[in-house]
Amino acid sequence: MKLADKVAIVTGTSPNIGGGIAEGLAEEGARVVCVDVAADNAQQCAEAIRGRGGQALGLVCDVTDERQVEAMVVQARAAYGAVDVLVNNAGILGGHSVLDMPLERWTRQLAVNLTGTFLCTKHVARLMVERGTRGSIIVIVSTAGHQGQAGNIGYCTSKSGLLNFTRAAAMDLVRHGIRVNSLTPTATDVEEGDTRAVAWGRARPERGGRVLDFARMLPMDHLPSPRHYARAAVFLASDESEMITGIDLRVDGGAVAKYWPWIPHA
Ligand SMILES: NC(=O)c1ccc[n+]([C@@H]2O[C@H](COP(=O)([O-])OP(=O)(O)OC[C@H]3O[C@@H](n4cnc5c(N)ncnc54)[C@H](O)[C@@H]3O)[C@@H](O)[C@H]2O)c1
Repeated sequence: MKLADKVAIVTGTSPNIGGGIAEGLAEEGARVVCVDVAADNAQQCAEAIRGRGGQALGLVCDVTDERQVEAMVVQARAAYGAVDVLVNNAGILGGHSVLDMPLERWTRQLAVNLTGTFLCTKHVARLMVERGTRGSIIVIVSTAGHQGQAGNIGYCTSKSGLLNFTRAAAMDLVRHGIRVNSLTPTATDVEEGDTRAVAWGRARPERGGRVLDFARMLPMDHLPSPRHYARAAVFLASDESEMITGIDLRVDGGAVAKYWPWIPHA
């Protein structure tokens, strides 16, 4: 068990990536606080972990609201005493082009993706400093934070901002022994998340086909699944990465490394 005795907060615990990371950390022995603005995502993720013999708590919290974030950290501390790991995963995906992005949507997307990560990092790191915890903070980015995607101005901007938020926060916190790293997922295979939704008692989501055949353009021949991100998160959360801070760990099947005109599986 790589995370025995550790307490982890994961935000945005839908059945997809956040749920997969929360379950992956729990499988390595972490007690997990599942945090989501949607009560069913927080509670069902925690129930699923408890159902497999793990320890977990579901908390409803809007990560853009500082008072709710502070209250969430207080509740996590009351339940488990300290927090060793924070995974900033909550996010709003998708969007519009710069020509037609409504200001309200831009503001909300940046608030959740950037400000939510800032607030959770601030209050969890303060607790870590107070308790002398040599913690690990993980920021979930996206290949859209490394590249310019058309029709996705708020998402690309916020995810790119998180890459340098990670480096700056790593420098702020290094003297406290707290490490901060980001993890970059890419277009994700939906099968695992859909199966997790069913396991949580939900109907299997209905899917239209993807407009682009992402797997055909990826150097590796299939898209990653949440469990692949979970394994990388376990590494960054664990003492195995004790000398690593301020990096971005891409779990993207080679997407960002690829020379752009090459279509590997044409
Ligand atoms: N799905 C992908 O293909 C993909 C690719 C790259 C990166 N990512 C990133 O991975 C993360 C998870 O993505 P996902 O596909 O699982 O998305 P998702 O929509 O299934 O999950 C996002 C979760 O965040 C929660 N959330 C939204 N606003 C919140 C708020 N204000 N406070 C607390 N929780 C809030 C939602 O309720 C939801 O449970 C995101 O940060 C996303 O940008 C996803």
